[in-house]
Amino acid sequence: MEFVSDCLGLNERDRLTIGGADVAELAREFGTPLYLMDEDAVRRNCRAFTGAMSASYPGKWAVAYANKALSCKHLVRVTREEGLYANAAGGGEVYTALKAGMPPEKIIFHGNNKTGEELRLAIGSGILRIVADGPEELRNISRIAAETGRTASVSIRLSPGIEAHTYEVLQTGKLDSKFGVPIETGAAMEAVRLALSLDGIDLYGVHCHIGSQIFEPEPFAMAVDVMAAFMVKVRDELSHTLKELNLGGGYGIRYTSDQRPRGIRESVSATAEAVRAAAEKHNFPLPELVIEPGRGIVAGAGITVYTVGGVKEIPGVRTYVSVDGGMTDNPRYVLYGAQYEITLPERAAEAKTQIVTLAGRCCENELLGKDMPVQPVRAGDLLAVLCTGAYNYSMASNYNRVPRPPVVMVSGGKPFVAVRRETWEDVAGLDN
Ligand code: LLP
Repeated sequence: MEFVSDCLGLNERDRLTIGGADVAELAREFGTPLYLMDEDAVRRNCRAFTGAMSASYPGKWAVAYANKALSCKHLVRVTREEGLYANAAGGGEVYTALKAGMPPEKIIFHGNNKTGEELRLAIGSGILRIVADGPEELRNISRIAAETGRTASVSIRLSPGIEAHTYEVLQTGKLDSKFGVPIETGAAMEAVRLALSLDGIDLYGVHCHIGSQIFEPEPFAMAVDVMAAFMVKVRDELSHTLKELNLGGGYGIRYTSDQRPRGIRESVSATAEAVRAAAEKHNFPLPELVIEPGRGIVAGAGITVYTVGGVKEIPGVRTYVSVDGGMTDNPRYVLYGAQYEITLPERAAEAKTQIVTLAGRCCENELLGKDMPVQPVRAGDLLAVLCTGAYNYSMASNYNRVPRPPVVMVSGGKPFVAVRRETWEDVAGLDN
């Protein structure tokens, strides 16, 4: 039996396993809803990225895990142990990374409207790079660096005008975007001029992120062409050599069995080769190359386990299966129509003969997915949604005052509570 993710399998009792551990047993031990992650699969994914970079890029490089996909201290430790840097979006992710022992010189700080407090934390702790999103931010960085007597190492987020094939809302590198400074309008060159004129800023490189769930290498290569041409223009017009090219994340993963993204190795090698070729063509020193995968590291390594509350068949219409979670732990169907596969952990070897609509328990007409094949399902069954390791826990909310589920990570077949379950007291505890 083949599953959509390689962290899943069947044991001798024909029950679903994650990282070799019995999912139903973990659900009994930790309760539902429950996020389960295979730590060994996370480590394999980290190595797939670092292995591909080291095999295909002759210059200096770094793989920075995009913590927005799932930020918690244990994952920071795992990614640090695997030699990854940290991409942190916002002060909370910077803080978590620092608290978990990620060296500041391995943290890259992102965000399109950083607050003074966040910039003070980043500059004060001496993190590797601040990716500035525009002229106002460059001025803020300069001012705060002056206040603290430091120089901030900065790169500028550019929007290269590439439209990658992905969901509309996930396209972030095209001209009509809140992110970055557009190259084609001339604003990017102005931002570079400004950065070079400001005190307290060492302009180190440029950054772009062209979107998410990109299956083919071509959009990355197109982005490299545009970014490299810009770096050459900066050298020729302003006599400043930008040392770093950060191409962001976006490496697509397989959420459903019919999806066929190119492997990590192929996409990363094609990207690295495009950078090498561009540097040679323009007689430009090989830039330090950074990539920032998020979902490529964690999405396929996680599942969410629920308990089925009720099954409601409306003849000729549809069958609703209600679970004990919903948009509070996975808002991605509601937001993007994201598609997932489901299975019953205790009957995972049986054929999926039923088509169901998965409903959450929030007081609104919210779903986790429509028309999903599953084994015959009854109230009381455990039900797992697969490939939920990215942007589920990190985007979870307390809507309806629902406490967030724990994140349990399995390593060598043994569970570890990376994030404990919230309680009603946690949720109400902030109120005065
Ligand atoms: N680097 C930057 C600067 C980014 O903005 C992002 C994602 C990444 C890296 C990581 O992208 P990934 O490799 O994970 O595709 N909430 C959405 C995803 C939004 C991603 C925004 N930026 C979702 O649930 O699909």
